[in-house]
Amino acid sequence: MPSDSIVLPKSVTEEDVLAVRHWTDELFSFRLTRPAAFRFRSGEFVMLGLMVDGKPLLRAYSIASPSWDDGLDFFSIKVQDGPLTSRLQHLQTGDRVLLGKKPTGTLVLDALKPGKRLYMLSTGTGIAPFASLIREPEAYEKFDQIVLTHTCRNVADLAYGAELVDSLVEDPLIGEMVGPKLTYYASTTREDFVHKGRITDLIESGKLFTDLDVPSFDPAVDRVMICGSMAMLQDTKQLVASFGFTEGSNANPGDFVVEKAFAD
Ligand code: A2P
Repeated sequence: MPSDSIVLPKSVTEEDVLAVRHWTDELFSFRLTRPAAFRFRSGEFVMLGLMVDGKPLLRAYSIASPSWDDGLDFFSIKVQDGPLTSRLQHLQTGDRVLLGKKPTGTLVLDALKPGKRLYMLSTGTGIAPFASLIREPEAYEKFDQIVLTHTCRNVADLAYGAELVDSLVEDPLIGEMVGPKLTYYASTTREDFVHKGRITDLIESGKLFTDLDVPSFDPAVDRVMICGSMAMLQDTKQLVASFGFTEGSNANPGDFVVEKAFAD
């Protein structure tokens, strides 16, 4: 998909696709070159897209790689009639993609008050910002335990996260920090698996805490980050707030932060 020699908007750069991997019929990931001037905090999102009919078509995407990485990873759904993902899913190595110059977001460590246990609750492609944060050394410096939950409809949808978590222990930079501190908890809702059910139900029933062998949510020591579909965000946010957690932002760090998984 070589881009035309059209003048690019000032807010974007054009980056090369370094790798593409298809996980299921509906999920794929890709890696882009990272401009030297591109700075971001692990957990942030950025505008990303393609030139379509001479115009930039951009959507917000969470960056799935950590801030120290020299490439930029993204994890996306494929929506067959989605304006952008119907095109992005055909990316190949060497193609060019538009990348915004200003990453931003609230799903960052700075938006949380200090705590002991950090929960990262995700569904579907909402795992992307956490794929970044679980490789961020600062997360392990700030928290004694990190619990990453990922809930998907089917087992195959979990592969991206499961493979990443598996690979971290071998990582030369953060392997030693991750080993004792990161707990990965995956569940499915439409297929049999070791853990079954929506994250909201697993929290409400207490099963999540029993399975993890930890006390229930406690705003004195626990912090929570939430990323998934709009419906998941709304329900999970309400549930977490019912335990007495207050929402944080960059300007006012709190007990939990929320972001939506951006796609078509
Ligand atoms: P379910 O299969 O019961 O709908 P999606 O692909 O629709 O974004 O869903 C990803 C995962 O998030 C699925 O396991 C889905 O469960 C779950 N999910 C969808 N809506 C909610 C919600 N409101 N609260 C919690 N989990 C949800």
